[in-house]
Amino acid sequence: MRKQIAAANWKMNLTYQQGTTLLKTLMEAGIKLKENQIALFAVPFPYLEMAVHAIQNKNNYFIAAQNCSDKKSGAYTGEVSAEMLKSLNIKYCLVGHSERREYFAETNKILSDKINMCLAYDITPVFCCGENLQTREQNQQNTFVAQQLRESLFHLTKEQILKIVIAYEPIWAIGTGKTASTEQAQEMHVCIRSELKNQYGNSVADQISILYGGSVKANNAKELFLSENVDGGLVGGASLVASEFIEIIKALK
Ligand code: PGA
Repeated sequence: MRKQIAAANWKMNLTYQQGTTLLKTLMEAGIKLKENQIALFAVPFPYLEMAVHAIQNKNNYFIAAQNCSDKKSGAYTGEVSAEMLKSLNIKYCLVGHSERREYFAETNKILSDKINMCLAYDITPVFCCGENLQTREQNQQNTFVAQQLRESLFHLTKEQILKIVIAYEPIWAIGTGKTASTEQAQEMHVCIRSELKNQYGNSVADQISILYGGSVKANNAKELFLSENVDGGLVGGASLVASEFIEIIKALK
């Protein structure tokens, strides 16, 4: 059974105090997750240790980093390695968010190195992919996303790809209040799964969680998550508000 995941991406928001309060409020809400459900919080690096502590002992709640270096260690001022994350007991890491691709020039090749680093340290990468508005308007989104998958993921073995979570995030829907329709999300998720099937076979492809991201809110999460191929969401803005994110967790299948 595929994992259903509600993942919060705080991005570069909230002070340490605000983040601490938000996690406390979320934990006090006491939402019990089913065995197949996961709640994930991708917090800024300086908050990782606090966040791991805040969710301690809660079943199926995990903390994620928002990024990691493609290098193992060494003279890379300002970078954070997968090994460092592992030493803090971090189990998940976002890789290839469109903001990293756009503002920090992360290419498919760099991202494939980051994926390798995460896997080497037993960290589950949440690999983000998705097209911009121009690509969507030219109806090239399927080819575009397939290439992102091929160039960053398809060097992996079957055992390795099973450790990956994929998040489809159309760039035109991120932070814009414009959500992909359920049909658009479902259509792309089917396309991603069929790429996985071609490369790794049906049984592997069926086990990989594919999340949707882009203006997921309390009031649209349920409908999006109902689609057979949408296994939860990666949530930016709405994850900063406790009451919103609580409803999004509750909307998981
Ligand atoms: P959003 O961001 O929910 O604010 O659109 C999603 C994301 O970028 O992960």
